[in-house]
Amino acid sequence: MSPADADGGRCSQVDRYKTSSIAAYDGPRADRYDESLIVRLLDLAVMDEFVLAVLGESLCTSAILDVGCGTGRLLERLAEAGARDLTGSDLTSRMVELSRTRLSPFEVDVELYQGDAETGLPWSAGSFDVVVATGVLHHFYNVKAALAEVKRVLRENGRLVVADPCFLTPLRETFNALLRVHPREGDFHFYSLREVRHLLCTDGWEVERCERLNWWAYGVSANRGSLGVARLNERMRPPSRSVTRPA
Ligand SMILES: C[S@@+](CC[C@H](N)C(=O)[O-])C[C@H]1O[C@@H](n2cnc3c(N)ncnc32)[C@H](O)[C@@H]1O
Repeated sequence: MSPADADGGRCSQVDRYKTSSIAAYDGPRADRYDESLIVRLLDLAVMDEFVLAVLGESLCTSAILDVGCGTGRLLERLAEAGARDLTGSDLTSRMVELSRTRLSPFEVDVELYQGDAETGLPWSAGSFDVVVATGVLHHFYNVKAALAEVKRVLRENGRLVVADPCFLTPLRETFNALLRVHPREGDFHFYSLREVRHLLCTDGWEVERCERLNWWAYGVSANRGSLGVARLNERMRPPSRSVTRPA
C-alpha cells in the first residue's frame, strides 16, 4: 500500500494509527518526550539547524507555522533566532500545552492550536509565509491531504521546510515493513529522499533543496508556487473552523 494513496475507506486502519499517535504524544508520555531515549540518541537539533539555514534572516519577518510542533522545541529555537510571528499546531492537547509553557518566557506573538493537520488547518488561505514540519511527515497517514492543507495556508510563493528521519536504506525499509503490520507511536512511513522529492514534485511544489543531513535525517525545502490562493480555497473543502489571522 502506498501511503500517498491512503483514503477514508480504510477507517479502522487510520484509527489504529491515530490511536497509537495519541497514546505516544498525549498524556504523561508527552511530558517525557524530550528526555526519551530516541530523542537523546538522535540529536534532533540537526533538523532545527536545517530549518534555520534555509530561512536565514527572513525568519525575523516571516509568519511561520510549525505543524506538529510537539513540545515546542523548534518554536523556541526560532524565537531565540529572532522570529516574531510564530504559530504552532499539534495533534494532541498536551503537546500544545507544553509548547505554550515553553514559549511563555519569550516576547513573541505565538498562537497555538490543537488539531489534526490531515483533516484541516483552521487558518484562512495564504496566512503564512513559511510552514515548517520537523519529525512529522512520517506520521501522516494521508500525507497528500496534509500537504494540500499546508499549501492552502501558505501565501503565494510561500515555503515549506521539512526535516524528517530517513535512516539508512535497509533500516528504513525494515521499519516501514514492520509499521505496515504494527503501528508504533503514530509512525506511518519513513520516506527516502527520492520518495519525498517525488511526492512534492507530483503535488506541484518546486523543490529548492533536498538533502541528507546525516545518517538518519533528510531536509527538504520547497516553494508553493504562485497558484492563486483564491483558487486553492475553491479547491479545498473548508476547514472545520476558519480563523483570519490579524495583519
Ligand atoms: C516526533 S514528534 C516531533 C515534534 C516536533 N516537531 C519536534 O521536532 O520535536 C511528532 C509530532 O507530530 C504530531 N503529529 C502527529 N500526527 C499529526 C497530525 N496528523 N497533525 C498534527 N500533528 C501531528 C505528534 O502529536 C507529535 O507531537
